[in-house]
Amino acid sequence: MKAITLDSASPSKLYLNEVQEGKCKNGEVKISIRAAALNHRDEWCRKGLYPNIQDGITLGSDGAGVVEEVGDGVDLGWLGKQVIINPAIHWGSDQKAQGKDFEILGMPRNGTLAEKVIVPADRIVLKPEHLSFETAAALPLAGVTAYRALFYHGLVKSGEKVLVTGFGGGVAQFAFQFALATGAKVFVSSSSEAKRSTALKLGAEAAFDYKEKEWAEEALQSSGGIDLIIDSAAGNTFNNLLHVLNPGGRLIFYGATRGNINELNARKIFWNQLKIQGTTMGSDQDFEEMIQFVSQHEINPILDQVFPFEKFESAFDRMRDGKQLGKIVLVP
Ligand SMILES: NC(=O)c1ccc[n+]([C@@H]2O[C@H](COP(=O)([O-])OP(=O)(O)OC[C@H]3O[C@@H](n4cnc5c(N)ncnc54)[C@H](OP(=O)(O)O)[C@@H]3O)[C@@H](O)[C@H]2O)c1
Repeated sequence: MKAITLDSASPSKLYLNEVQEGKCKNGEVKISIRAAALNHRDEWCRKGLYPNIQDGITLGSDGAGVVEEVGDGVDLGWLGKQVIINPAIHWGSDQKAQGKDFEILGMPRNGTLAEKVIVPADRIVLKPEHLSFETAAALPLAGVTAYRALFYHGLVKSGEKVLVTGFGGGVAQFAFQFALATGAKVFVSSSSEAKRSTALKLGAEAAFDYKEKEWAEEALQSSGGIDLIIDSAAGNTFNNLLHVLNPGGRLIFYGATRGNINELNARKIFWNQLKIQGTTMGSDQDFEEMIQFVSQHEINPILDQVFPFEKFESAFDRMRDGKQLGKIVLVP
C-alpha cells in the first residue's frame, strides 16, 4: 500500500513509499483511509525537530475512513463504519494531564498518511454525519487541542472577549470557530491581510497584524481588553499578549512557534491577577466532548486545500511556509 514515510536521505525528507500492509492484533482495527490531514507536528518531524524520530515511519496523526478489519476482541459491528481517529494514545485516567505512556499517532507509531492504518479500537469514533471524510480528517488533533485550551483550561463563557493569535493556524481556526459557537466575542491576529479579511467575514470583531509593532496597543484600545487569549507562538513577544489582557484574564498557550520566552513581565502578571496556562492536545473526555460540540453546532472545519498523496511535497511545503488558511488535507 502507499504510505508517506520519513526518509532523511531524500531531498524532501519524505518518500511516497510502497509498504507492507499489517494485520490487526487483539483489540485493534484497520481503517481504510479516505482522507488525512497535516499538523505542524508532521512538519517538525520532517525537519528532525521531534524527539525519537525514525526513518521509515508513516507520518500523520489525523485521519478519517472506513473500518475494514477488526482484531480479536473487537465488536464486529464496527466493520464498514465511517469513523474518525483519536490520535491521542494512552492519555491515562487523569483529566489534569497525560501520563508517561502518552503518545501521538504518526511517530513513533505508523500514522494516517497511508492507504490503511491500524489503531487500537478504542481510538475510533463514528464520523459526525454532517462532515465529509475531508472535513472529518481535519478535525482530530487540532480540534481537541483547541477544545481543551478553550473549555477545560480557558473556561470560556458566552459574551467574553477572546483573542485567538495566528488565525491561519490549524488549531487557531478551531479555537476561533468553537469560541464563536459559544457566543464569545472573538478577535484574531494574523500576519496575512487575506486571512485577517477572511476572519472578519467569518464573524471576528476585529483582526490585528501581529507583525506591526503597535498591534497590542491597538488591540487593547479597540477591544477594551481581552478576557481570554489562545496562543501558539510564545517567544519574546509574549509580553504583548499580557498587555492586551484584562485584569483577571487568562492566557492559554499550546505551542512555542517563536521559541522560549526570555523575559516575562512578572509585575503585570501578579498585579493584574493573570493566569498563564500551558496545554497539550486532550484526554479521551476532551475528545468525546469536542466531537459532541462539533456535531451539536454543526461546525465545518475550514479546509485550505486538498492534495492527492502524490503531491505530498507541495502540501508539506505549504504548511512549512505558513501559506495555509485552515487545514491541509491529503487523500490517497
Ligand atoms: N501542544 C499541542 O498539543 C499542540 C497541538 C497542535 C499544535 N501545536 C503547536 O502549535 C503551533 C501551531 O500548530 P498548527 O498545527 O496549528 O500550525 P499551523 O497550522 O502550521 O499554523 C501556524 C500558524 O502560526 C501562526 N504564527 C506564526 N508566527 C506567529 C506569531 N508570532 N504570533 C502568532 N501566530 C503566529 C501563523 O498564523 P498566520 O498565518 O495567521 O500569521 C501560522 O499560519 C505549532 O508550534 C505546533 O507544534 C501544539
